[in-house]
Amino acid sequence: MEILRPRGTRDFLFEEMEQRKYAETILRRVFETYGYSEIKTPLFEELKLFTLKSGEEIKEQIYHFQDKSGRELALRPELTAPVARLFMDKFQKSPKPIKMYYFGSCFRYERPQAGRWRQFWQFGCELIGGKSPEAEAEVISLANQSLDELGLNEFEIHVGNLGILRGVLEEADITGDVQDQVMGIIDKGDMDELKEYLDNLNLNGIYRKILLTLIGLKGGKELLIQVEELVKDIEPAFNALKDLEDLLNTLDSFGMDNYMVNLGIARGLDYYSGMVFEIYVHGLGAQKQICGGGTYNLIEVFGGEKVASTGFAFGFDRVMGALESQNVNLTVNDNLKVYVAPISKNTRQKAFEIVQSLRKVGIASDVDLARKKLKKILSYANNLGVKYVVLIGERDLEEGQVTLKDMETGTQESVNMDKLVDNLKKLI
Ligand code: HAM
Repeated sequence: MEILRPRGTRDFLFEEMEQRKYAETILRRVFETYGYSEIKTPLFEELKLFTLKSGEEIKEQIYHFQDKSGRELALRPELTAPVARLFMDKFQKSPKPIKMYYFGSCFRYERPQAGRWRQFWQFGCELIGGKSPEAEAEVISLANQSLDELGLNEFEIHVGNLGILRGVLEEADITGDVQDQVMGIIDKGDMDELKEYLDNLNLNGIYRKILLTLIGLKGGKELLIQVEELVKDIEPAFNALKDLEDLLNTLDSFGMDNYMVNLGIARGLDYYSGMVFEIYVHGLGAQKQICGGGTYNLIEVFGGEKVASTGFAFGFDRVMGALESQNVNLTVNDNLKVYVAPISKNTRQKAFEIVQSLRKVGIASDVDLARKKLKKILSYANNLGVKYVVLIGERDLEEGQVTLKDMETGTQESVNMDKLVDNLKKLI
């Protein structure tokens, strides 16, 4: 009987796990440098946490089920809604802003392809209770510094404000669910589908023209002059444009100049209300978006106070793919340093004692647990890449000695058993 991994999931082996841990450590350090503290929320939540804002359609894209007591639950497709729930429960009365970060797996029922998985990891943060534009600028700077410190090159940060598009739609009387539908199609980037949808809505004339022009606008800060010309008579869009302008000026103060303005960012999730940003790495093909975020209102949707919230999440797997595609060297920790090899069965007990004394002082070491012959032990130890092998022979043992073999040079020396731990501590 063959038992397969579920579609859209992966196993991670040793080297890959070392690389992921290395990247995770860097991200934790950078996030903490910006004053964020880590939180962990459950892998599954009440289904309504995700349907409340996004509607029943989201059920198509997530794993949801009833538990044995008939509760409607869902594996989390992302972490912003769970963090908003946690905020409501624990932090409503705390001094703000609250800065939280997380690293955990998410589940989406998607058609798997390179860079798109059914179980994937997000490394992200939420800043709740800060004010725009400073909170937004700081969040974008954090994403930027994280990628810099990972050693990633050639990533593009695109910044927009979806209040501009929504403002134009509003003015054209396209509101509520229909407006969300239009934003969803813009997010997919399928212009033919969008035009057909607008045809069906009978959106012609000036608003259609403004909308289609805005979606295509990407470039430097100077682009805002053109946007102003387009939306100067559409108040909500004009206000959103002014917010974007403030943000870009604040980004300057945070020392950031490596972003692009992109008015076509619509984001796939329904809770965004203003600033949005996405980060792309072009070598990755269709799944080039390694990060997404923005300002949202979820806490209010969940019945809490109106509190400004901004955040983002890296698609951790895509970040790893991007680092790999750019051959960034992620230091792999070749942890195991020493292998302890009993040469005969009478020295096994001593081998266990020795390996434990090494481990107690923090020297990563292993011992033969398979009763192998010496030749096999040495080849196994060689495969593990250990630096030293401690050989324990019967005669040596009687004299209180062991043999220390340097696996790089092949040289061997006798060492007094009492001095072994100290000697190895100096060598490693
Ligand atoms: P999102 O854009 O849906 O935003 O996901 C964030 C990132 O997760 C994406 O940019 C992408 O890199 C990665 N991602 C999404 N789906 C998959 C998948 N199937 N396989 C691999 N990677 C994937 C959010 O989830 C928001 N909660 C982000 C946020 C936080 N906004 C505000 N705060």
